[in-house]
Amino acid sequence: MSALLQTNLGPTPLIGRGKVRDLYAVDGALLLVATDRISAFDHVLATGIPDKGKILTQISLFWFNLLKDVVPNHLITADVDEFPAALKPYREQLAGRSMLVKRVEMFPVECVARGYLAGSGWKEYRAEGTVCGIALPGGLQDGSQLPEPIFTPATKSQDGAHDENIAYEQVEAAVGATEAAQLRRLTLAIYNRAAAHAESCGLILADTKFEFGKMTEGVILADEVLTPDSSRFWDAKAWKPGGAQPSFDKQFVRDYLEEIRWNKQAPAPGLPDEVVERTRDKYLEAFRRLTGQELAL
Ligand SMILES: Nc1ncnc2c1ncn2[C@@H]1O[C@H](COP(=O)(O)OP(=O)(O)OP(=O)(O)O)[C@@H](O)[C@H]1O
Ligand SMILES: [Mg+2]
Repeated sequence: MSALLQTNLGPTPLIGRGKVRDLYAVDGALLLVATDRISAFDHVLATGIPDKGKILTQISLFWFNLLKDVVPNHLITADVDEFPAALKPYREQLAGRSMLVKRVEMFPVECVARGYLAGSGWKEYRAEGTVCGIALPGGLQDGSQLPEPIFTPATKSQDGAHDENIAYEQVEAAVGATEAAQLRRLTLAIYNRAAAHAESCGLILADTKFEFGKMTEGVILADEVLTPDSSRFWDAKAWKPGGAQPSFDKQFVRDYLEEIRWNKQAPAPGLPDEVVERTRDKYLEAFRRLTGQELAL
């Protein structure tokens, strides 16, 4: 079993490589290829997780389908047989882990929904009693459920800088009041639908990030959706507010990196086989629990 750390599609124009995905321009469209790279503490690790890119892609596809009545999305096809002929030689690299999507103008906002306090939300609440300027009741803990899900937008950071939480008014200033209201409404509607599904699988969807694009027909859901990379999923049975909740997917990785006392500066270390295997099992478990299916590999 080997991990695909980087794709190489010959003359296909490479637009960029994110921490996890490689992006290519294909005709007028965009090809998103999820590799097996894994990041922790904002660094890509030297070791990959075999099939992680396939698992993430299949999770996104599951959600696009489940949510298609709530919001239209950017997917053209994830079937390599339907990809343009120029991609045929790269089938091995692409199958199961790539999506051809409509290339659209993206709203310059990360649309985050939170149903629970964690991460930067918890930090702001502890310091100010608010999240993105939204006042919350006192007495909440790290990991507490919020009285109702809230829209907590963030700036889209360039070149690896940290996203910064912003107030709703800043979204209005950036995209206009009508579209800001639409982004908030869609973000919460999708969160609610997805959180209800996750709950039926014994998972808590603590928070998640969406990115939307603009088309002449209206707003569409783009990027990846509701994967363990863009969302915090917690095992409902293990949920215990009052401290950081174990990360569903990356806990073994983080524990290992803490154990070896990595200083969280580049170059990032690799992972021992056992950590790779256990982590792969967690990603597969997320897929299995969310979709009720076994991943076809
Ligand atoms: N349909 C689309 N049209 C145009 N751009 C898109 C579309 N879907 C996603 N994108 C953009 O493609 C990029 C995907 O990059 P990716 O998430 O892999 O890396 P990144 O965001 O640069 O870094 P990170 O790895 O930290 O997420 C994002 O900038 C996203 O906004
Ligand atoms: Mg991204």
